[in-house]
Amino acid sequence: MTRHLPTPDSYDYEWVALSDARFAPDTGLIRLSWPDTTMLDVHPTWVAENTPVTGYDTVVNEGILDVREAPTPSDVAAVTIDDEGALAVTWSDGGSSKLHPGWLRHIAENKHLPDSFLPDRVKWTPADLAEPISVDGSDVLGDSGALEEWLSALVGYGLARLVDAPTDPDFLLDLMKHVGPIRGSNFGDLFSVRIHESPDSLAYTGLNLGQHTDLPTREIPPGFQFLHCIENTVEGGWSRMTDGLALIDELQTNHADHYEALTTLDWVWFNRQHNDDHRWVGPVIDHGGPHSPVTFRAFYPVRSFPAMDSRDVSRAYAALCCLNDVAHDERFQMRFAFRPGDIVGFDNRRVFHGRDGFDPGGGGRHLRGCYLDSDDILSRTRVLRRRTQ
Ligand code: OGA
Ligand code: ZN
Repeated sequence: MTRHLPTPDSYDYEWVALSDARFAPDTGLIRLSWPDTTMLDVHPTWVAENTPVTGYDTVVNEGILDVREAPTPSDVAAVTIDDEGALAVTWSDGGSSKLHPGWLRHIAENKHLPDSFLPDRVKWTPADLAEPISVDGSDVLGDSGALEEWLSALVGYGLARLVDAPTDPDFLLDLMKHVGPIRGSNFGDLFSVRIHESPDSLAYTGLNLGQHTDLPTREIPPGFQFLHCIENTVEGGWSRMTDGLALIDELQTNHADHYEALTTLDWVWFNRQHNDDHRWVGPVIDHGGPHSPVTFRAFYPVRSFPAMDSRDVSRAYAALCCLNDVAHDERFQMRFAFRPGDIVGFDNRRVFHGRDGFDPGGGGRHLRGCYLDSDDILSRTRVLRRRTQ
């Protein structure tokens, strides 16, 4: 028994032998069955596309067929399962396909979808999560499992903290080399959140920052933000986080009119700097397409023009007031202080962040920050969890 066939990816699949495979000329589909009654219907063209060597390149794991030249249902000569339970198809031109039954099985179980290998999303309020889940960051670049634990919590809760990480101002760059490419912005790849002499963002002052999400001026705002505390000796300047998923629940349940306004009425978001002109138009709560995660656009300093019927502007403002009430409500908003060596990561499209004001003369406060796109965080999280799931 060889019980091995290549699959078009980098995973090892348990061999789950098929009990039956038959072609139905009326539907043009091949019905696969396993002994526990699990079933999967597959199209012959798709079988050909996923056949090692003839359908996909086994080095790069990408399909090579022009769909116009691929076999169709009328090219099926025979469908069987081989001695070891793999799918075997013979084509009318004499060619054949053999597919790994465990790989086919993972599709029947929906484990091929984007949420595969990712932790479930957990909605939170401070009543169930008083502080960010914390992971020891002292050896995060070693193979301690800390990176997987931290990223898993980050994806699940939209917020997670490494503690006791080094306080080298460029450590975030080293860490992100193990995660994925940094998404730069007009603030740089790595930015310093501290008092600037001529600030180009409210973040670079000692002012209170109301609950917000960064860069709503972009078509797709950065997925995740990381803030690494290098120094913090000021009074105040506490960090505040609110889970947007809990906020949506509250709005839907108790403020349905405001929720409707927040999801449907558009604003122009505009970064008005001398040398930068980023703009996007969209609602405060943007549900995007059917497969998109929610995106909150909630940075009032760059909310620039209503892009709605002028008769809707009053209710749009009323809805924003309601959103701010909920986002700053102690029932939803978590507060904690930054300690040197903390690296707080959060889902910038889901979780609101903010900061208490502080006296710029009363000590030093220095955070180093960066953004990464969600795609890169999710990819790294899947790859790390692949080892343990
Ligand atoms: C930011 C920001 C929070 C802080 O830089 O976008 O919100 O705690 N900073 O200074
Ligand atoms: Zn911010």
